[in-house]
Formats: sequence, C-alpha cells, structure tokens
Amino acid sequence: MKYFIEVWGCQMNEHDAETLSGIIEERGYSKAENYLDADLILLHTCCIRAKAEDKVIGRIGVLSKLKKKKKHLIIAVGGCMTQQEDVARYIEKRFKEVDIIYGTHNLNEFASLLESAKADQKQIKAVSDSEGMDIREYVPIKRNDKLKAYVNIIYGCNNFCSYCIVPYVRGREKSREIKYIIQEVKELLDQGFKDITLLGQNVNSYGKDFKDGTNFAKLLKELDVLGDYRLRFMSSHPRDFDEALIDVIKDSKNVCHQIHLPLQSGSDKIIKEMNRGYTKKHYLDLTEYIYKVLPEATISTDIIVGFPGETEEDFQDTLDVVEKVGYDQAYMFQYSIREGTRAAKMTEQIPEAIKKERFQRLLELQNKKSLERNNKMIGKIVEVLVEGFGERNNLTGRTSGNKVVNFKGDKKLTGKLVWVGITDANTWSLFGKVKGE
Ligand code: SAH
Ligand code: SF4
Ligand code: F3S
Repeated sequence: MKYFIEVWGCQMNEHDAETLSGIIEERGYSKAENYLDADLILLHTCCIRAKAEDKVIGRIGVLSKLKKKKKHLIIAVGGCMTQQEDVARYIEKRFKEVDIIYGTHNLNEFASLLESAKADQKQIKAVSDSEGMDIREYVPIKRNDKLKAYVNIIYGCNNFCSYCIVPYVRGREKSREIKYIIQEVKELLDQGFKDITLLGQNVNSYGKDFKDGTNFAKLLKELDVLGDYRLRFMSSHPRDFDEALIDVIKDSKNVCHQIHLPLQSGSDKIIKEMNRGYTKKHYLDLTEYIYKVLPEATISTDIIVGFPGETEEDFQDTLDVVEKVGYDQAYMFQYSIREGTRAAKMTEQIPEAIKKERFQRLLELQNKKSLERNNKMIGKIVEVLVEGFGERNNLTGRTSGNKVVNFKGDKKLTGKLVWVGITDANTWSLFGKVKGE
C-alpha cells in the first residue's frame, strides 16, 4: 500500500506532515512517488490566506474525480483549513469522496481514523478543540531530510494579531517540556543531523506557560552544549525579542546568526491596529542592536501590504524600514480577509488594485536589497553545509546565515561542512569555489 501527502503552509505544517508520514508508515504504507500511484492521499492544508484555501478546494475536486475510477482510494483532508468548523462542514457535504476530515489536534489519532475508513465506507470527521489536549511525546516521525530537522518547541499562539487565523486553528500556546526537546535534539545529533530548526509561532513565548522561570534563552543555552551543529529558530516576535536574547546568541557556540523577525508593517498606526504591540522605533532599535552585536547576521522578515486603513504614508513607513534594515530575505503578502478575525470586520478594506500595486513596489525594493546584501558576500570565505547536487551540476548548500551557495565539487562532500570563497551573487543565491581548489 502506498501513500502520498500534499502539504501547504508553514514549517510547522511541513513538520506535522512528517509526523503523519511516520504514523502512516507504521501501518505498513510506503511513500508513493506520484499521487496517481497512491492508495491513500492526504491533503494537509493551510488557511492563512484565501489563495491557500482555493488551491486545496481545487485539489479535492481533482482527487474526487480520481476516486470515481479508483474506488479503493482513501482521501484525507485536514490541518488548519478543516479546523474551521464551517469549512469542515462544507467539505463534508460537498465532497462525499473525502473519507477522512481531521483537525490540527487530531494527528495522533490518524492511525485509528485510517482503520475505520478502511473498515467501512462512511465519511469520518475528527476535529477537536485544543483545550485539554496534552502534547503526545514519542510519536514516530518520518523526516524528509537527513541533514536538516525541525523540532517543535511550542504549539499554538496567544497573540491574536488582528489579521491572523492561526490562534483560531492552532489553539492556545503550549510549550513542550524541556527534557523532551533535549532528548529529541540529542537523538537527531546521534543520527547525524547537522542543522536543527526550533519551531513555534512565537518561539519567544517558550516556557511562559510553565510559570517556573523556564524561558527561550534558557532552552537555547541547554541545547547549545549538546554537540557541534547548527541551531536555528523561528519565528520571533519583535515585541518579545530582546537584547538579552541577542547576547545569548552571541555567547553561544552553535546558534546561527540568522534571525527571522516579522515586521508586518512599518507604520505605528497599522502595527497598533494589527495588535502587534511594538513600534517602528523599537523594531529599528532591535535590528540595529542585532547588527552591532552580530555583525554577520542575516535578518529576514514577513510583511503584509494593504491591511485595512493602510494609507500611502503608512506604506511609506514599511518601505522605510525595508530600506533601513536591508533584509536578506522577506516573505511578502497582500492582506487577505480571514473570516472570524478582528481585521475582517474593519470597514476600510483596501481595494485589490492598490494592494497589488504596493506589493509590486515593495517586491522591487526588497529584490534590490537582497541583491545588495548578497553582493556584500563576494570575496568572503564562508562555511557551507553541503546538501547535494542542485541545478546545472553544481553542489548546493547553505551558510550559517541560511544563504544558498552553489559551487562545483564532488558529490562526496554532501553532508560535510566546507569552506567556500564567494565569487558571484544574484538576488536569491551565491556562487563560489571550494577553498584550496
Ligand atoms: N507566527 C508567525 C507567522 C505565521 S503566518 C509570526 O508571527 O511571525 C506567516 C505570515 O503570514 C505572517 O507573518 C504574516 O505576514 C502572513 N499573514 C498572516 N495572516 C495573513 C493574512 N490574513 N493576510 C496576508 N498575510 C497574512
Ligand atoms: Fe498569527 Fe500573530 Fe500568532 Fe504569528 S504571532 S501566528 S501572525 S497571531
Ligand atoms: Fe498555514 Fe496553519 Fe501554518 S494556517 S501558515 S499551516 S499554522
């Protein structure tokens, strides 16, 4: 029996899909190369923007047709999108071909849902509330990579940024016990993993729910001593990210000087309406301190354009921050109304044409900045973790700051750290030569 998973959304979703793969493989399935070869297909969904949801509905349509020809095919749809009651109900009614509808808090039951779906032809829906759910440890995980691994440290989100659906579909913040995180990282290092990313919607909230003084800085310090490897984390919240944490990073051996610090908007008025809890000045001071203490740091961000009430002047504030910080990379989005959030009810929604036009201007500025930042790397010698062959017979790997580097070399270097002299750059990646060659 073969299975196939299609995943949308963030790293947390990707990692959840690895957990689902582990659970499914324990039931005797193996991964199909192509969805057409699979006996079980999962759509593990995201609902952060309308576009993400539209794509999934399109895919369910395609798979429903496939099932008419392939009667034994089992179709499962779940994750953030189906955690919304109305969406789960819509899929349940509209697509009878979908066998399993599961929520974000029901991954650990997936094996039994699968058994029931196989036993009788009835559609099953399992969407639970997050309250009262405990974190399950020791779940099998089938990882997609042999070098890079994700480790969850905190689930859910309490921030309720006014545009965002995540707190509604992922529930309240729940930190994972420090001993299990340490144990997982130790096991990964024993298995040869070299690059570990700690995941959470707001990693800086780690430990607050334990109310015993545990915090993110403490976790980083404990993980730092476990070996020689690259340790990353995302996302940070500019409200909770502070100078003390930047100092911890500086004093650490393994924590990469790579910081993802979502700005969302540069306008104080919009930041407030977004319920983000910082100011443009606070944000700029933080990034200034990062560059002062960690001069080689790479900084990336998330930005939304066209939030309700955003004027040209507000947008200029966003461009101003992009200009001043000089991000290595930015994930940029046009505001998308999410029913049930506070911003959905705001009256001053921005016309699509204006959102598009602002997005284009932002994209142009950011591309210019990315190229400037990459060009600055030319002439430097950087340590690259080699991931294998990429395009045009080049080896590809990443710097500690997470920049992609392409260079000629032997496949045997895969999984190794090598020193590469940077000779050229474009907006998205660097090119170089292995030192000594
Ligand atoms: N927890 C992370 C981000 C999760 S969602 C954080 O706070 O940084 C990833 C990004 O999607 C957000 O940072 C935001 O930029 C974007 N996003 C969230 N809701 C959105 C919406 N309604 N419309 C457009 N972009 C959105
Ligand atoms: Fe959404 Fe804000 Fe939570 Fe990030 S911090 S997941 S943007 S509510
Ligand atoms: Fe999407 Fe859910 Fe992540 S809504 S961005 S998959 S937490």
